[in-house]
Amino acid sequence: MTLPARVKLVEVGPRDGLQNEPQLVPTDTKIALIDRLTAAGLPVIEAGSFVSPKWVPQLKDTDDVLTGIQRGAGVRYPVLVPNMNGLERALAAGANEIAVFGAASETFSQKNINCGIDESLERFVAVCDAARDNNLRVRGYVSCVLGCPYEGDIAPPAVARVAARLADMGCYEISLGDTIGVGTPGKARTLVETVAEQVPVDRLAAHFHDTYGQALANLISVLPLGVATVDCSVSGLGGCPYADGASGNVATEDVLYMLNGLGVDTGVELDALLEASRFISHALGRAPASKVARALLKY
Ligand code: HMG
Ligand code: MG
Repeated sequence: MTLPARVKLVEVGPRDGLQNEPQLVPTDTKIALIDRLTAAGLPVIEAGSFVSPKWVPQLKDTDDVLTGIQRGAGVRYPVLVPNMNGLERALAAGANEIAVFGAASETFSQKNINCGIDESLERFVAVCDAARDNNLRVRGYVSCVLGCPYEGDIAPPAVARVAARLADMGCYEISLGDTIGVGTPGKARTLVETVAEQVPVDRLAAHFHDTYGQALANLISVLPLGVATVDCSVSGLGGCPYADGASGNVATEDVLYMLNGLGVDTGVELDALLEASRFISHALGRAPASKVARALLKY
């Protein structure tokens, strides 16, 4: 098994994690969490989203979060943007990167962003064009790549079609979201092989939720194919408010521990990451979902 020498970890906890908390997390807590993640050496930290505050009230303070954090040198802090309204808010708040988010499931797209797949892609073209005019990098997500809470199985070519469209419109990286964590290693490998026929594998990221405990196994099945970007969430925070049953992303601590053991470089410091995990677990009043954090922080 040949693994990439280096893997880029994209920390999504402050967005994918905190969007799903039943209580509103104070802005200062979000800022302190992101500052700790920056100190741990994460190169990309998703800081929030500019979606409708009626749909996701948990992240309605993203502008204050972006202006409150201490940005690390060279660190990127993408924010989710569903439409031109979101882009304008992101620009006003000084975002240095955005992410558009589509889906491979028609029903999920309707439930999540209130429009179908093709209409969403048209919106994203306009967002990508305007982002380019403003020198903003754009990341693209495809959700439900290994299954949908409404439609069940999703065919890999349906994922490849959306991924290719996002790449064509200028997304520098396409993140493949197993939104409800139903994937297994063989299916994850087939998915990446199919999408890689349309989008170079070094532009793909694995965004695996750990609902069924498969996320690390799924990662180890796609890393040898050349996937070298992994989305993960400190403490295993996360879920999706429009996907019942979705639990957290694979925990950053667990991915880092595994990659350290395999000799794969990430530039992230485990001790400093554990401090971020301890901090947010204390703030939320519960033990981390990360097994590595539980073991090392002695929960
Ligand atoms: P809509 O209701 O169709 O929007 O929602 P609209 O354009 O008809 O506007 C309705 C109202 O929303 C208007 O306000 C707009 O101004 C406002 P009103 O006149 O009623 O007062 N509005 C906005 N306000 C702030 N920011 C905006 C914005 N846009 C419109 N950007 C919309 C469409 C996309 C806005 C809505 O469906 C939405 O916000 N959805 C967000 C859903 C979401 O954030 N889901 C979680 C993220 S996706 C995810 O977690 C999956 C991922 O992790 C990958 C994976 O795991 O698979 C990425
Ligand atoms: Mg997600």
